[in-house]
Amino acid sequence: MRIRLFLALLCAALLCGCAPRETENVPELILRYADNQPEDYPTTLAAQYFAELVERETDGRIRIRVFADGELGDEISVYRQVQFGGIDFARISVGALGEFLPESDVLQLPYLFTDAEHMWRVLDGEIGDEFLNKIQTTGVYGLSWFDAGARNIYTRAPVRTLEDLSGMTIRVQESDLMSRMVELWGATPVQIPYSGVYSALQTGKIDGAENNWPSYEASGHFTVAPYYLLDRHFRLPEIQFVGAIALEKVRSVDETCVDVILRCAKESARYERELWREREAASEELIRSHGCTVTELSAAEQEKFRNAVQPLYDECGPEMQALIERIRNG
Ligand code: GCU
Repeated sequence: MRIRLFLALLCAALLCGCAPRETENVPELILRYADNQPEDYPTTLAAQYFAELVERETDGRIRIRVFADGELGDEISVYRQVQFGGIDFARISVGALGEFLPESDVLQLPYLFTDAEHMWRVLDGEIGDEFLNKIQTTGVYGLSWFDAGARNIYTRAPVRTLEDLSGMTIRVQESDLMSRMVELWGATPVQIPYSGVYSALQTGKIDGAENNWPSYEASGHFTVAPYYLLDRHFRLPEIQFVGAIALEKVRSVDETCVDVILRCAKESARYERELWREREAASEELIRSHGCTVTELSAAEQEKFRNAVQPLYDECGPEMQALIERIRNG
């Protein structure tokens, strides 16, 4: 008797439409997005926002799953996977881009931008668009630029001057230009992917690294390397991109969906820049209240850091020199 009642209730539930509602929500395309920062970090929150916008604007036809914390791999490997269609979208630091687009090394030159406004004038203008377009030659489409503030040096032992850095081992991203910068400062560079930096600092394999306030805080590096030297050597933007293969998949759902992706990416970048400002202030406050030693460089000392890396500029070929000139006037 009970079984019959159960079956009758089940049929009633199906007839009143429970099952069809579920299938209505099934997307036509599910895409993957990689970020190596934690879920509550500005870039990852912006990625999540991007995914929500796309799902809403395509009426649920396209769903994007965001994988945070480097779950899909380090930046260099993620870029390759996007090229080959294993991952669809990603956000990486421009520090990793030079491996694929050597011209973008110019954006890795220390002390290139005078301040944030200067960087945004350049990236939101012609030069920024030229880079987003050039990236197409590597099999991915540049969508937008994300903020990543200014980067500073941090160490396990106190550092107050350029001389203090001498002989120290400093981690850099997988970039030869960055290695050379550290050498010019008189230290020894080591290229390690971001995910390996915490343990390298903790075990003393390296003496220091460099990054912006939010990364220094979110990664926990401030707990093992508590001396933060504000030399602001880089203003290294980050780039959000989609694979050419992924874009074809989007196009096969509907041509108009491609525009949706481009528009929502720009919108998510605006959101990231807002989040960035808030997080930068919050991270600084947390780090200072934790008791880290934060050192501001005197103008004379700052000049020493800057002069030491001048050979990086002098060694550039004529094309790069011309681009530097355009950026400086930007
Ligand atoms: C920043 C950036 C990361 C990058 C890291 C690094 O934290 O947001 O994407 O991997 O720098 O120094 O490698």
